[in-house]
This record gives sequence, structure tokens and C-alpha cells, in this order.
Amino acid sequence: MVQARFYPDLPMEAKIIRQEVFVEEQGFQEEFEDDESIYIHLVLFLDDKPISTARIKKLDPERYQLQRMAVLKPFRGLKIGTYTLKFCQTKIKTLGGREIVLEAQLDKSGFYAKNGFKPVDGEIVYDQDYPHIWMRKVIVRPKNK
Ligand SMILES: CC(C)(COP(=O)(O)OP(=O)(O)OC[C@H]1O[C@@H](n2cnc3c(N)ncnc32)[C@H](O)[C@@H]1OP(=O)(O)O)[C@@H](O)C(=O)NCCC(=O)NCCS
Repeated sequence: MVQARFYPDLPMEAKIIRQEVFVEEQGFQEEFEDDESIYIHLVLFLDDKPISTARIKKLDPERYQLQRMAVLKPFRGLKIGTYTLKFCQTKIKTLGGREIVLEAQLDKSGFYAKNGFKPVDGEIVYDQDYPHIWMRKVIVRPKNK
């Protein structure tokens, strides 16, 4: 059974996944912030095992940024990333958000594109020497459009 849980501060389960994926697998050095309580954190559990995470940052009342999306390696390619995104999208909608933005690692942009995200301006930006591209998805359209 897949279960999503949201947390108001970084839970140990998310810390372990991010350490394994972003620090050990991908080599990012500046992974954790002193205060992660400004984000909402999601952990997805499969039969009580934590397998993916993401965090949500409020930019303004209608715009939210999705960050630190990670699925443990043995669970990739099974649509866990898609589920993780969907749970975050639903959460953001319940908070009143209308648009999600994210800075995608360039070689992961195809994953986000499959989930309805579009490049903002196509510009490549470097975060800790890793190429990224800004993407966005409108999740609630204005009533008159
Ligand atoms: C990127 C990531 C979250 C994808 O999660 P996942 O569970 O493997 O993805 P899904 O199984 O839900 O894939 C959904 C679709 O996206 C595609 N996809 C997945 N990764 C992709 C990639 N890197 N490039 C292009 N397409 C990709 C899948 O083929 C699938 O396509 P389909 O619907 O036609 O079958 C996962 O690979 C991951 O955690 N990577 C390491 C951490 C990371 O880089 N995070 C992103 C930071 S921006």
C-alpha cells in the first residue's frame, strides 16, 4: 500500500532519502539547510518503507515551488515519482496554489514534461555546477480562461 505523509519540518525519513540520493549518488554538497521548517515535506511510504520525498516552498499565495524530489534508486521507473508529484500537486491545490514552479535538473526535465510541466524560458542555469532548467505547471486556471 502506498501512503503519503506531510510534515511541517524535515523528518528523518526524508533526510535519509535525500542524503542517499542527492549527496551520495549525485554528489551535491549543500543539501540541507539550517532551517527546513519553512517548507512542507512529503514522504511516500510503500508498505511502511519510505521510498520517495519532495518538499514544497510557498512563493506567494498562488505560487509554490517543488524541490528535492527524490525516489530511491530501486523504486525508480515504477511511477513513484509521478505519484509523489501528484500528492504534492493536490496538497498545493488545497493550500490555494494555482501554479507550481521548479528548477529541474536538465536530464530530468523529460520526467517533469511527462507530468505536464513546461519550460519557463529555456535558459540553462547552474546550481552547484549542475545544469538546471526552470519549469512550470498551471494547476488551477483563472475562471475566465
Ligand atoms: C527523476 C525521478 C524523480 C523520476 O522518478 P520515477 O519514479 O523513476 O519516474 P516515473 O516512473 O514516475 O516516470 C514517469 C515518466 O517519466 C519518464 N522519466 C523518468 N525519468 C526520466 C528522465 N530522467 N528523463 C526523461 N523521462 C523520464 C518515465 O520514463 C515515465 O515515462 P512514461 O510515462 O512514458 O512511462 C527519479 O529518477 C529520481 O528520484 N532521480 C534522482 C533524484 C533526482 O534527480 N531528482 C530530480 C531533481 S530535479
